[in-house]
Amino acid sequence: MSARRNFEWPELLTADGRGIAFGGDYNPDQWSEDIWDDDIRLMKQAGVNTVALAIFSWDRIQPTEDRWDFGWLDRIIDKLGNAGIVVDLASATATAPLWLYESHPEVLPRDKYGHPVNAGSRQSWSPTSPVFKEYALTLCRKLAERYGTNPYVTAWHMGNEYGWNNREDYSDNALEAFRAWCRRKYGTIDALNQAWGTTFWGQEMNGFDEVLIPRFMGADSMVNPGQKLDFERFGNDMLLDFYKAERDAIAEICPDKPFTTNFMVSTDQCCMDYAAWAKEVNFVSNDHYFHEGESHLDELACSDALMDSLALGKPWYVMEHSTSAVQWKPLNTRKRKGETVRDSLAHVAMGADAINFFQWRASAFGAEAFHSAMVPHAGEDTKLFRQVCELGASLHTLADAGVQGTELAHSDTAILFSAESEWATRSQTLPSMKLNHWHDVRDWYRAFLDAGSRADIVPLAYDWSSYKTVVLPTVLILSTADTQRLADFAAAGGRVVVGYATGLIDEHFHTWLGGYPGAGDGLLRSMLGVRGEEFNILGAEAEGEPGEIRLSSADDSAALDGTTTRLWQNDVNVTGEHAQVLATYAGEEADEWELDGTAAVTRNPYGSGEAYFVGCDLDVADLTKLVRAYLAASSQENADVLHTVRASADATFDFYLPRGKKTVELQGIEGEPVILFQTDREEKPGSYTVRRNGVLVVRR
Ligand code: GLA
Ligand code: GLA
Repeated sequence: MSARRNFEWPELLTADGRGIAFGGDYNPDQWSEDIWDDDIRLMKQAGVNTVALAIFSWDRIQPTEDRWDFGWLDRIIDKLGNAGIVVDLASATATAPLWLYESHPEVLPRDKYGHPVNAGSRQSWSPTSPVFKEYALTLCRKLAERYGTNPYVTAWHMGNEYGWNNREDYSDNALEAFRAWCRRKYGTIDALNQAWGTTFWGQEMNGFDEVLIPRFMGADSMVNPGQKLDFERFGNDMLLDFYKAERDAIAEICPDKPFTTNFMVSTDQCCMDYAAWAKEVNFVSNDHYFHEGESHLDELACSDALMDSLALGKPWYVMEHSTSAVQWKPLNTRKRKGETVRDSLAHVAMGADAINFFQWRASAFGAEAFHSAMVPHAGEDTKLFRQVCELGASLHTLADAGVQGTELAHSDTAILFSAESEWATRSQTLPSMKLNHWHDVRDWYRAFLDAGSRADIVPLAYDWSSYKTVVLPTVLILSTADTQRLADFAAAGGRVVVGYATGLIDEHFHTWLGGYPGAGDGLLRSMLGVRGEEFNILGAEAEGEPGEIRLSSADDSAALDGTTTRLWQNDVNVTGEHAQVLATYAGEEADEWELDGTAAVTRNPYGSGEAYFVGCDLDVADLTKLVRAYLAASSQENADVLHTVRASADATFDFYLPRGKKTVELQGIEGEPVILFQTDREEKPGSYTVRRNGVLVVRR
């Protein structure tokens, strides 16, 4: 495995290069040049100091195969730089010009039916096309030659959301590359046959030239899940290789500017294995789009918690979020009072040192004209633009107070996330098609918040051994090595919490045998002191059947009385001599399914630590009861507020953000207030009233 790239942060054009980066995607090529000066005037008014430029501008830069036009880009970079605004310059490869598709239609990806994905939108290119790569790398080199020493270009914004539109490519280029990928990974065809279990349905291959990508195999045909999982990994790897090739083409000419690419982490999308990608950038950046509804802030914090771990605790970049509504959902709600500023400050609270939006000026045409922006269609004399200016001022205040470069304090609990398990839970070959690892991570995250105890979210592949507790919600895939790490962690005194569909299969999608959850050849089972024989699946599809089963507490706490499971119950025997049953299934419904009295939640001592088994799905409210009773830190906080701490050797900042609709009264707060957004300072020292969507930041 290659070493992780050094952390490097792009400097601003301030006297000392420091400050919180603030701005957005800037698409001046959509406007006539006479608007540009007005853009700069408004940017200065709002406190914008950074823009991401030329993301979709390949056709402007190279209008025909042998003509290059950098004039417009020179002019706008110059204008921006002279105004004190730095540029994250894109590699501009997110959309190729139409002439390239005309002369080389073979660069287009294909869908699973073999139809070409047509040009005309964006990212309509195959990362495994050698022809496309050659054109893309030529563009990268040209940009590096032209802007590598430009003082106003301080970072490279590679591609754009790699994988969003071309994650799955079934072209001949992909087929050939997949065969080579399998050969590299498995060495021999026997090893691949073994891994994919090809004796099932007579699919044994004689050589790598018989390896197939999972193209359409007929309606209702089930795909070999091992092959599908490898195809997911391959799709991730090919885009990552493509990113690296682009990055290295630029780095050969311009080695000294940091590289990033915008990830897509929100709990509805986590399309790539960012645990691997984060090693290949100099600073991590993310595009986050909010969830409407009551989970708005919790979801933001949950996504950001993963970002913070991907960044290894270093500051990271919000490359895109929205000032208000997007235009790509069935229901595009705008942000409520205060949320435009609050969301940005919440990202800072969670470790971001850069707050950027899609996009600067709302487009007058095109697919995203009705997407909110920093300058709306109605112009500068608007509520929204005034909020953008207010935000710019707040970020300035935070930077002056010394927030930049401080690191987010960690919690003592890590919820583990694995992109591979997320892909695997989408398989159509599991006991239920309703599994979703990432959503279960979010539910556990919210349960910890509701219990007044914030958790971190850490990639399974990273080092989580310094935490006190690790939680594995629906981490379907556990390898022997990962199971051993969990056992070592528990043996050394850690607490491991295993969710209901965790550790059922290995990295090749082979079921672990001998009883569930059998990961590590039974190691996980013996850690837990339970042995599952069957799964019990409930759902509305079973007409007239009860849709839920009740749990009954089995210890004195009565904590889990009345909690309810609605999807998945493991039918287990308790095998551990010292295993303690904390709750069982109870009642008529349980009895019908032979689950009455069966252990639902257990705890087993293991070495100097312990292992919990949560053998069924529970909703956030019920998970909260479980967390509160057994898992939360002893010093629980006010669950009505998201409280985070960012600190360096010089200063400590506390951020307080109400999670719900209620106004929150805070008392005994130490330190000097830095930000009082929708917040009043009361007469009594250390007392504050923080209204809905408000933010209090104090410096200790
Ligand atoms: C059909 C097939 C079997 C098997 C079962 C599963 O009956 O003939 O091979 O796939 O469905 O229910
Ligand atoms: C993504 C893209 C942007 C824009 C926004 C709209 O994040 O990177 O170009 O399409 O979505 O929300």
